[in-house]
Amino acid sequence: MTSQTDIPAATDAAIAYLREHDPEHLAQLDEFLRIESVSADPERIGEVRRAAEWIVDELTRLGVERATVHETSAHPIVTAEWMKAGDEAPTVLVYCHYDVQPADPLGEWISPPFEPRHENERVYARGAGDDKGQLFMHLKAVEAWTKTAGRLPLNLRFFFEGDEEVGSEPVEQFIADHADLLRADVCVVSDGDTFDDDGTPAIGYGLRGIAYWEVRVQGPRQDVHSGHYGGGVDNPANVLVRMLASLTDVDGRFTVPGFYDRVRALTDEEHAAYAALPFDETEWADETGVPAPMDGERGHILLERLSARPTFDINGIWGGYQGDGAKTIIPAWAAAKISTRLVPDQDYRDILRTVKAHLESLAPPTVRVEVKIIHGGAPASTPLDHPGIGPAARALEAGFGTAPLFQRSGGSVPVVAALDAHLGLKTLMVGFANPTGNFHAPNEWMSLRNIRDGMTSLVHLWAELGAMSASELRGD
Ligand code: BES
Ligand code: MN
Ligand code: MN
Repeated sequence: MTSQTDIPAATDAAIAYLREHDPEHLAQLDEFLRIESVSADPERIGEVRRAAEWIVDELTRLGVERATVHETSAHPIVTAEWMKAGDEAPTVLVYCHYDVQPADPLGEWISPPFEPRHENERVYARGAGDDKGQLFMHLKAVEAWTKTAGRLPLNLRFFFEGDEEVGSEPVEQFIADHADLLRADVCVVSDGDTFDDDGTPAIGYGLRGIAYWEVRVQGPRQDVHSGHYGGGVDNPANVLVRMLASLTDVDGRFTVPGFYDRVRALTDEEHAAYAALPFDETEWADETGVPAPMDGERGHILLERLSARPTFDINGIWGGYQGDGAKTIIPAWAAAKISTRLVPDQDYRDILRTVKAHLESLAPPTVRVEVKIIHGGAPASTPLDHPGIGPAARALEAGFGTAPLFQRSGGSVPVVAALDAHLGLKTLMVGFANPTGNFHAPNEWMSLRNIRDGMTSLVHLWAELGAMSASELRGD
């Protein structure tokens, strides 16, 4: 930033702007949250696009240039840039996603998912935390700078995706085709959570990867009488649950040969860092509503198992009779959606293939088993000695009044590893959702406190990073 600008004063002015316009900004957030941008729902393709266009209009209104809705093989991608800070100043790529998860089960929402409700200093709506609320905070942090200083203290590029919740299928190709629109010294991703709901912010330094399949077991041509045929016709539902049950052992370890080969073990320092985090397992179990946490893998505390170790889950399973009362049939088929969470250095492409072949090999000759690959994404990590970590920590402390803790997230954001692989771009993960904010679940919410302190942190973050040179931030 040019020497004429007094950065601390400009930062204060931008933060004062946010405070003054708070009611208006919250109303505008509601407008954004009302758009039903459910990427998984083919009937809402138009709504997803409407969210992309809403963002482009906003960015354009703020003086951000080249705001564009790009067509992809799936939902659109939005890019834009503000590059007037000059060549010496760093360039940061901001990534968030504007698609949301389906809202079902609808009956469990206290108020409709796309009619934002403000209560208890929280905004309740699908996407409030994951991730439209966080995307919106970025727009307002930019607005705060441009409306007060007339400029930003660094160059910013924007990369907003509409397929994150369904596996980010188009992003690899997009990154490969549009490196020029994404080139930056570091990426900032806001799609995670703070450390707790009491105002402790977090810097993320890891995300798990994912591999996802659908398995279908086909038996007789149609449902048959279970008395007349039972004992002769193998039951596809029985076969499916036997196959899936064999995929984990009593410790919750995945049994497919080779699965752990590339799992990087935690170092003593990493174990120590996990042990030092303030985390109450009983409180966590209460909050989650489970009678007790599962034992899981030996040699790893709960927090480690939640983010630094692979897992296997049946995400859905169906088939056979589900109506009232009883119906004595052997169903013609049964199916399940299953997934694993992966950690460095597991390769999701290998795992997608190996597990598919393994399941096919488990199929008895009495049924036909079909395994479909749904999607995959690589695990990611940020080195804690990255030159952007210190400035990010200062910015979060300035915004929240509490120093951030460092955490690995159990969730996945496939773009993070893809940006590293294609562009060598490292990511600073500064997330603002509330850890108990019900993402992917009924009654999703984000606290006004996280919205406000998060926006303030972002205003500081641009000042902090803007004080560095591009090469300093890159670490070369
Ligand atoms: N924001 C989440 C990922 C996340 C969750 C990060 C919790 C930090 C803490 C993201 O939107 C998400 O849900 N991703 C999917 C990716 C999948 C569809 C490829 C996930 O993790 O299931
Ligand atoms: Mn998200
Ligand atoms: Mn999500």
